[in-house]
Order: sequence, then structure tokens, then C-alpha cells
Amino acid sequence: TDFTGRTAVVTGGASGIGFALAKRFLEEGARVVIADIEQSAIESAVAELTALGEVRGIRTDVRDLDQVQALADATLEAFGRVDIVCNNAGVETGGTFLNITEQAWRWVMDVNFFGILNGCRVFLPILEANGGGHIVNTASVAAFNSGTATMTPYCASKFAVLGMSESLEVELRTTGSPVGVSLLAPGPVKTRMIEAERNRPADVPPATEPGRVAMMEKLAATTAEVGLDPAEVADQVLHAIRTNQFFVLTHPDMAMAGVQRRLDWMKTGVPPAARRAGS
Ligand code: NAI
Repeated sequence: TDFTGRTAVVTGGASGIGFALAKRFLEEGARVVIADIEQSAIESAVAELTALGEVRGIRTDVRDLDQVQALADATLEAFGRVDIVCNNAGVETGGTFLNITEQAWRWVMDVNFFGILNGCRVFLPILEANGGGHIVNTASVAAFNSGTATMTPYCASKFAVLGMSESLEVELRTTGSPVGVSLLAPGPVKTRMIEAERNRPADVPPATEPGRVAMMEKLAATTAEVGLDPAEVADQVLHAIRTNQFFVLTHPDMAMAGVQRRLDWMKTGVPPAARRAGS
């Protein structure tokens, strides 16, 4: 695939993996729309990338279907076409099960799952009308690793992304759609995910559980130690788009160990030892 003259939309594009994707697409000659909920981060991202090519920032809360539709309309208005959609915005919150409020559950599911669903529903017809294109949905290695204590909403949201994306890909292949789908399932990557609380909406009560900060700090330490640079992840995604490859596993051993853990559990009936986030 030649990305010259193509248009890529990246949600959560103002930071981390999304920002690296936006940068990489621009370097390859594509035009880029950065969609993010954080206006100030959009402005600095656009300022940093503007020398590389045509880049716009459009404030979008991916939880809201109308806003995702408005993003598509604005992109078509600005660039006339959409070729690649990276449904990448995501948040994380943790805690022991009964300490996670219903509002926090809905926030995580709304961003991580319904945000991706909204992106697929709005952009798939546009890509099909274009005669082709590619959708990249960001899940996580958590989509393969069940049994991670204190991360129930995050795991559930990422399982949902995996199930939806796999089924969508099979459906599109079977019906001969010209649109490809990839599932990005990163392991630890050095981004601002650890500060996801910055995007917690005002109507979602703050997490107050004792011990939660220590858990997040442990996760941050692991990421600092073994985390990949987001630019490496972006390279893998571009390769997957070029080769129409579904799974993008930044840490394949981690993903496969997670699947193996479940297979062993299914075969033996013996539940695995609880793991904690960051371990
Ligand atoms: P990040 O925090 O650096 O970037 C996430 C971006 O999403 C931020 O710019 C944030 O403002 C935006 N965002 C949050 N809520 C939004 C909303 N409602 N609407 C639009 N944008 C919103 O974190 P990172 O790591 O770059 O996250 C990207 C994706 O990668 C997420 O889906 C995350 O779950 C996934 N991931 C990250 C891993 C890591 O170790 N960093 C590991 C596995 C998955």
C-alpha cells in the first residue's frame, strides 16, 4: 500500500500510540486527522506534526456516535476521502471488583468498546463506498489474558473489542468487502495510559480504593522497564495494513501465554493463580 494521498483518521491520536501512528502516516505521505477528547493535547500534537504534512485535529468524544459521525463529515469535508481508520482511543481504571462503580464500568466500556464500535459503524460504509480501506481496532494483550486481578472492566472491554473485530473481519472476508480489519493488541508500551484518569469524566466518581495507586505505580514501573516505544508499534501497524494482517501482536509471547493459560484452564478445570496488573 502506498499511503501517499491517503487519509488516515486516528482516535486517541493526541498521545501515545495514536500520536505515533499519526506521525508515521504523515511521514508516509498520508493526510491525517487526529481525533481526541483532550483539546490542549490535540493542539500540541498538531503543532508538533504540522511540518510533516497535512494534519488536522478534531475534538471528538468517541463515546458519542453523533460526534464520531461529525468527525467523519469533517474529515470528508477537509480531505474528500477516508482510507484508514485507527480506532485507538482507550482508557484504563482498576481496582478490586466491588470498588469499581457502575459509572466507572460504563466509562471504560463506552470508550474502549463502544468508541471502537462507533468508529466501525460510521466509517465502514465510507471505506466501502471508496472501494477499499483498512480499519485498525486497538485492543490489548489483556484481550488474551483473562484472570488479571483488579482489571475487570479493562479486560472485559478489550475482550469485547477482540470478539467484535474477529467476527467483523470474518464477515467482511466472507462477503467480499474491500475493507480490511486489523486488531492491534499491544503489551506494555511507553505512553500516558497510566495517567488515563486525566480523562475520567466529571460524572464518574473518582477511584478511592486504598492500594490502587500502588497497583498503578507497579504497572507504570513494568511499562518503564519492558515497554516498547510507540514508534515501534506504529511501524508494526503500518506493516499490518500493507499486508492485510489481522493480528498485530507487539508482545506475541505474552499474548500466546495468555491464550495458553486459558486453554490449560479449560482442559484441566484448574483455575490459574491470580495475577495482578503489572505483574
Ligand atoms: P494514551 O493515554 O497515551 O493515549 C490515549 C488517548 O486516548 C489520549 O490522547 C486520550 O486523550 C484519548 N482518549 C481518552 N478518552 C477518549 C475519548 N472518550 N474520546 C476520544 N479520545 C479519548 O495511551 P495509549 O497507551 O497510547 O493508548 C492507546 C490505546 O492502546 C488504548 O486503547 C489502550 O487501551 C491501548 N493499549 C495500551 C497499552 C500500553 O501499555 N500503553 C497496552 C495495551 C493496550
